[in-house]
Amino acid sequence: MTTRAIVNIGELITNDPTVGDETLLGRLSNAAMVVNDQRVLWVGPGDQVPDADEQFDADGGAVIPGFVDSHTHLVFAGERSSEFEARMRGERYDGGGIGRTVAATREANRGVLHEATLRRVRELRASGVTTMEIKSGYDLTVDGEARLVSVAREFSDEVTFLGAHSLAPEYVNDRGRYLELVTGPMLDACARDARWIDVFCDRGAFDVDEARHVLEAGLRADLELRLHGNQLGDTGGVALAVELDAASVDHCTFVNDADLEALSNSNTVATLLPGAEFFTQSPYPSMRRFLDAGVTVALATDCNPGSSYVTSMPLILMLAMREMGATFDEALWAATCGGAQALRRDDIGHLSVGARADFCVLNAPRAVHLAYRPGGMVVERVFSAPH
Ligand code: NIG
Ligand code: FE
Repeated sequence: MTTRAIVNIGELITNDPTVGDETLLGRLSNAAMVVNDQRVLWVGPGDQVPDADEQFDADGGAVIPGFVDSHTHLVFAGERSSEFEARMRGERYDGGGIGRTVAATREANRGVLHEATLRRVRELRASGVTTMEIKSGYDLTVDGEARLVSVAREFSDEVTFLGAHSLAPEYVNDRGRYLELVTGPMLDACARDARWIDVFCDRGAFDVDEARHVLEAGLRADLELRLHGNQLGDTGGVALAVELDAASVDHCTFVNDADLEALSNSNTVATLLPGAEFFTQSPYPSMRRFLDAGVTVALATDCNPGSSYVTSMPLILMLAMREMGATFDEALWAATCGGAQALRRDDIGHLSVGARADFCVLNAPRAVHLAYRPGGMVVERVFSAPH
């Protein structure tokens, strides 16, 4: 395998607290790194770099681990910009627009869906994302959801079955039968291509008992658990996620102190999605409050057409700092290592020796430029180990 030395790195963020300045981010100045196609082989001072087959000159720029975006809904057709305009006029978000995307997605053929997803994947990659979770949930029929997970599978190993995103329009008056479909034939049709199962457990979506029923069916089909919770109200999703040892509970916009206490004593990550608050004019959860309570936090885009059409992880970092009380280091950690923990992965989100060679070279001397120059094109090159 070819080896490559990345030389002349102004600031290397390893996320390994045993190296460099021994902070959360394990920073090394004037550093170098050697990788092969798959793995990080060496990190250290620039003047001690071992020989390699090839060299890449970072030109004094910073290098960070690739972002791990642990929450996206990338497979959909159509758009809902008129809802966005209504949100900006002050109309509240209640998840009710999901049906519009379901109708458009059902109409689209596989080629169209594949193309639309590819475009979003490329945008995320250009923003520095090297691993992305992708959910189904915009078809809500057996064959349709199977089609969405199989399109998602073309782009990611981290695919989530989200048949319980909303009640399918055919079942609005028969919740019980829809849940039987989701936990029976739909789950059977989707389990092969999915690693995860998720439920939108919230006001106007599925309640805690329904969500438990769906997740327990997922467990029986060997899927692992994640959950949309506490986005629209303090509705019990966080407690359920902890009870079932879900890898992550996502949104957490409205949480109480008992939720934070439970999270801090669990293996469940709180994934905050500030794109959704930004987009729906909802209050931001305080990331400071989560961190001070000892909760492990991830940050993700929640890229979807209704509540967060965001394909930029740097924007998410900016929001976490500007609106949620995080330091840059805490935000960057949450968007890399935090995302990895939310996917129960230890091979990504950091650049220790042995980690996957997924990293970004910035055209700025310090990683903080990602947030310091909002809307700027700070990510210069994205390197990603082939899957
Ligand atoms: O994560 N909360 C539920 N699902 C998505 C939004 C879905 C939509 O409005 O299309 C979310 O915000
Ligand atoms: Fe979501």
